[in-house]
Amino acid sequence: MSDQFKAPKGTYDVVAPFSATWLAVKNALTTPPMLSGYDYIETPLFEDTALFVRGVGESTDVVSKEMYTFEDRGGRSLTLRPEGTAGVLRAVLENRLDKGALPVKVWYTGPNFRYEQPQSGRYRQHTQVGVETIGSSDPAIDAEVIWMAIHAQRNILGLTGVRLLVNSLGCHNCRPTYRATLTEFLNGLKLDEATRQRAIINPLRVLDDKREDVQELLADAPLMPDHLCDECRNHHASVLRFLDILGVEYEQSPRLVRGLDYYVKTTFECVHDGLGAQSAIGGGGRYDGLIETLGGDALPGVGFGLGVDRTCLAVQAEGIILPDAMQVKAFLVPMGEASQDVVVGLAQTLREAGIACDMAFDARSMKAAMKGADRSGAMFAVIVGDDEVAQGAAVVKNMGSGEQVTVPLDLVISTLQSHI
Ligand code: HAM
Repeated sequence: MSDQFKAPKGTYDVVAPFSATWLAVKNALTTPPMLSGYDYIETPLFEDTALFVRGVGESTDVVSKEMYTFEDRGGRSLTLRPEGTAGVLRAVLENRLDKGALPVKVWYTGPNFRYEQPQSGRYRQHTQVGVETIGSSDPAIDAEVIWMAIHAQRNILGLTGVRLLVNSLGCHNCRPTYRATLTEFLNGLKLDEATRQRAIINPLRVLDDKREDVQELLADAPLMPDHLCDECRNHHASVLRFLDILGVEYEQSPRLVRGLDYYVKTTFECVHDGLGAQSAIGGGGRYDGLIETLGGDALPGVGFGLGVDRTCLAVQAEGIILPDAMQVKAFLVPMGEASQDVVVGLAQTLREAGIACDMAFDARSMKAAMKGADRSGAMFAVIVGDDEVAQGAAVVKNMGSGEQVTVPLDLVISTLQSHI
């Protein structure tokens, strides 16, 4: 069997029973935006390479090391999207949504591709649920975005181990001065060559270094929240006040720096401590200025991307069992040819009435069919044999208690409904 194909390195298949958790997580993460006036948007999986270079930032790892870039047969340089924001903003501009009522509020879900070193929680294809809001600089919308992320994780999925880290990265006015102050501080430290190079490309990213010895050196580093301009300070204070009003628990995290270049002011990350190194299950923030960079008007924006893969890992780490939307309620068992005619019709009737059901195929023995009923996890088996066909009836068996009743066929639905 050595010639069988395998999923490409860093990717995996979502198959049952895990696929039920996957779908439940996706549904949970998409619920808050659907309750909050967000429209659904879908954009292509690939875009012009230049969109990501300009939108995500040339100095980021994502653009400099991780993109799946290829030339198509027409000689265009295309890239599989490594994240959702740049493509969504391109679509908003191209479809002139920014010329209508503001703010534009959209949500999306789908796969992203990054050529990373695979490990648990870090894949070459990962799926996000994301939102983007365009055209509002109101701190209340930052709070709405943060609330949606954390509400899905804590209240809908029931995760207890998620910490919400919040920071402000300043703006195009105050960050350059801070950056210079930080660079001066870093220049006075004994840093290894790789870290020094990182400091030249983006000194803020050095603050995020996880190594203990580096963190010790950085103990007295100047931090962005202490160097915000009045506007950024007021904005940040308002965001935190709204989070307090919403009762959202958060930690102020002055060293939080995100891996993408477009962030200003509010940034946040949801981290789960049960996941090891890849602890960020979602993150986002404000990107005022990005839309202008992509050729649009100077409109502000804020959004998030939540990782479906890592959220599933967090759900599993906490042992949470999520309701399975695809769980069948009834399993139909025909015993004989005539009864199969009845059961095929009955399955259709139940499904059209909104009762999820499955049935035994391939005329197996009663024993094999009941095994199938067991395996399906259905609450009820509905058995139709020759006697029942003659009576126009079916046996409804409770798979838990073993109790069974014979009911006329036209009462099967109401019998099941009264117990579901
Ligand atoms: P990001 O932090 O790069 O942000 O990704 C968002 C989330 O996607 C991460 O927190 C993580 O859960 C998941 N993720 C990222 N890379 C991987 C990977 N290689 N394997 C598994 N999961 C991964 C963004 O992408 C921004 N576009 C979010 C945003 C939207 N900011 C504003 N609007």
